[in-house]
Amino acid sequence: MNTTANTILITGGTSGIGLAFAEAFLKEGNKVIITGRREDKLKEIKEKLPQIITKTSDVTDAAQRAELFNWINENHTDTNILINNAGVQFITDLKKGIDTDKLKTEVDTNLIAPIHLASLFIPHLKSKPNAAIINITSGLAFVPIAMMAVYCATKAAMHSLTLSLRYQLKDTDIKVFAIAPPAVDTELGHDRREDKTQSHGGIPVNEFIAGAMAAIKNDEYDAAIGMAAGLRAKRETLFEQINSGFPG
Ligand SMILES: NC(=O)c1ccc[n+]([C@@H]2O[C@H](COP(=O)([O-])OP(=O)(O)OC[C@H]3O[C@@H](n4cnc5c(N)ncnc54)[C@H](OP(=O)(O)O)[C@@H]3O)[C@@H](O)[C@H]2O)c1
Repeated sequence: MNTTANTILITGGTSGIGLAFAEAFLKEGNKVIITGRREDKLKEIKEKLPQIITKTSDVTDAAQRAELFNWINENHTDTNILINNAGVQFITDLKKGIDTDKLKTEVDTNLIAPIHLASLFIPHLKSKPNAAIINITSGLAFVPIAMMAVYCATKAAMHSLTLSLRYQLKDTDIKVFAIAPPAVDTELGHDRREDKTQSHGGIPVNEFIAGAMAAIKNDEYDAAIGMAAGLRAKRETLFEQINSGFPG
C-alpha cells in the first residue's frame, strides 16, 4: 500500500515501536497522530517533532476509546490508517494466584482495546482512500513463552481476530494487516527490570521498523518480521525448546 500522504493514528506512540513507526511515517510524508497515557512523554515528543499530533488517551478505558474516535472524527477526519500498537507485557504465574486487576489491564490493553477501536473506526475508514487497520501482534502469538502466559494468549487472540476482521472486511477497500515483531529492544517489560536501561536482548527498533515498513508497502498482510517468521513456521514444535530456558 501507499505509505505516503496518509493520516495515521498510532496507539501507544510514546516509546518503542509506536514512536519509531511515527518517526518513519513522518519521514515518508504522512500526518501522524500518537496516543499514550504519559503526558510528559507526549509533550517531550511534540517538542522534538513539532509536526506530530499528540493525544493523551488510555486504551483500557472504553469511554476514552470512544472519546478518541469522536475526537479524530471531529478534528482529523482525514485519518485513513489505524495502527493498534499499544501493549503491555506482564509475567503471569498461574500457580501463584492471579492479580485480577493486572490481568484485566493486560487483556484490555492488548485485546479488548484493538477490537473496540477497530469496530469504532470501520464505518469511518470505509469512505477513506488507502485505508488500513494494522494490528501489532507478536511472534509469541505462534509459540508462547509460558511465563508470559496471558500476554502470549492476547497476541494469539489478536492474530486470530485479525484473520476474521480481514474476512469480514473483504468486500471493502480497508486493508487489514497483522505485523508480528520478534523481540525488539523497547520499554516493553521494563517495569519488571530493576535497571530500566537494561535491554531485553531484542533487535534494534529501527531494524524492526525497516522490515515492517517493507511488509506494509508490499501488502504483506500477515508479516512476521525477523525471528518471528521462524516462530510462525515451526509453532508448537518449538514450544518445548523455547520454554526450557525459562522458569515454569
Ligand atoms: N518489544 C518487543 O519485543 C515486542 C515484540 C512483539 C510485539 N511487541 C508489541 O509491540 C507493541 C509496542 O510495544 P513496544 O515494544 O514498543 O513497548 P513499549 O516501548 O513499552 O511501548 C508500549 C506503548 O504502549 C503504550 N501503552 C501501554 N498501555 C497503554 C494504555 N493503557 N493506553 C495507551 N497506551 C498505552 C505506552 O504508552 P504509555 O505508557 O505512555 O501509555 C507505549 O507508548 C505492543 O503491542 C507489544 O506487545 C513488542
